[in-house]
Amino acid sequence: MKLIILAGGGGTRLFPLSRTCMPKQFLKLGDSDSLLTQTVKRFLPLLKPSDIVVVTNKEYTHHVKTELAACGASSAHILLEPVARNTAPAIALAARFCQDELGAAADEVLFITPADHIIHPVDIFIKNVRQAVELAAQDKVVTLGIKPDKPETGYGYIQAGESLGTAYQVDSFREKPDKETAEQYLAAGNYYWNSGMFAFTTGRIMEEFREHAPEIYQLMSAPLGEVINTFDTMPSISIDYAVAEKSLRVVMEPLTAYWNDIGSWDAIYDVLAKDHSGNALQGDCLPIDCSNTLMLGRNRLIAGLGLEDVLVVETDDVIVVAKRGESQKVKDVVAELKARG
Ligand code: GDD
Ligand code: MG
Repeated sequence: MKLIILAGGGGTRLFPLSRTCMPKQFLKLGDSDSLLTQTVKRFLPLLKPSDIVVVTNKEYTHHVKTELAACGASSAHILLEPVARNTAPAIALAARFCQDELGAAADEVLFITPADHIIHPVDIFIKNVRQAVELAAQDKVVTLGIKPDKPETGYGYIQAGESLGTAYQVDSFREKPDKETAEQYLAAGNYYWNSGMFAFTTGRIMEEFREHAPEIYQLMSAPLGEVINTFDTMPSISIDYAVAEKSLRVVMEPLTAYWNDIGSWDAIYDVLAKDHSGNALQGDCLPIDCSNTLMLGRNRLIAGLGLEDVLVVETDDVIVVAKRGESQKVKDVVAELKARG
């Protein structure tokens, strides 16, 4: 098995802390390791560092190298995309790399994981991964799914069908539905969130690209050097739209470990430790009569007076203050700033 860690995204949902120069996968929350380091460590009980491929771009090489070294995984491979083309081309490139450079045979399983999630405990997670890998070895396209507890619109949904032991046949896969559809999925009870983790053999993913994304297939069929040279002509598309929504071989293994994509400041509040008034505090914070707040300071003192259900994030040049429950809207701030130029 080879592990492909996708670490090239430039997410903005945690603005102002995550920016293009410091996306979510490199953030450290609380006293913990960065999310990328946590991802690598989570898999070390299963494989050697030299079986890990981190796919990213030139701008993030330094971050990735430093983090791999810090967790004793310097022999992991860093595969650089010349340009970001979303996850389907990144996976195609990684599959070609595994075949050409690491000698992966057609029946070798590739396990794909995002680099920016919180998952624990590791032993339960490893059990889930082993089950997924076993199914992938039977020529399935395996996703890991999470039982939803809210109508989240930032995730893909998997409609579970017939039971196959611990896993389920996937009846349909819907990437990021609107709110109304997400509510219907939640009420139906047989829909799971897509974790963004996949397992398949190198042979199976080639075949899936051939059937469902022929443009990518054609480009990835060349030797590695050529795939890199023509990478900018790849269509920009996620693996979810390119393959998962279309494949007839998708099965879902439910993830029984805790999983959080921490895609918003509200989610960060949820995962951080709190004081006795429910305040999650980082940096120099002085909450007076405050409850259920997030105060995240970098350089300056944050003094809060009588605040309730408020999120405050302070950085060198930007301070964001939001009502809890509203933090998805920071993407509107990012859009507005982009529009201003
Ligand atoms: N190498 C590389 N190149 N990595 C990329 C690229 C790219 O062009 N684009 C994104 N990534 C990485 C991100 O860094 C992240 O680790 C992972 O791929 C997923 O990308 P996101 O941008 O975070 O996707 P998402 O969160 O919107 O949606 C995906 O994940 C959800 C769960 O968190 C989808 O798979 C959804 O279906 C899923 O529910
Ligand atoms: Mg994500």
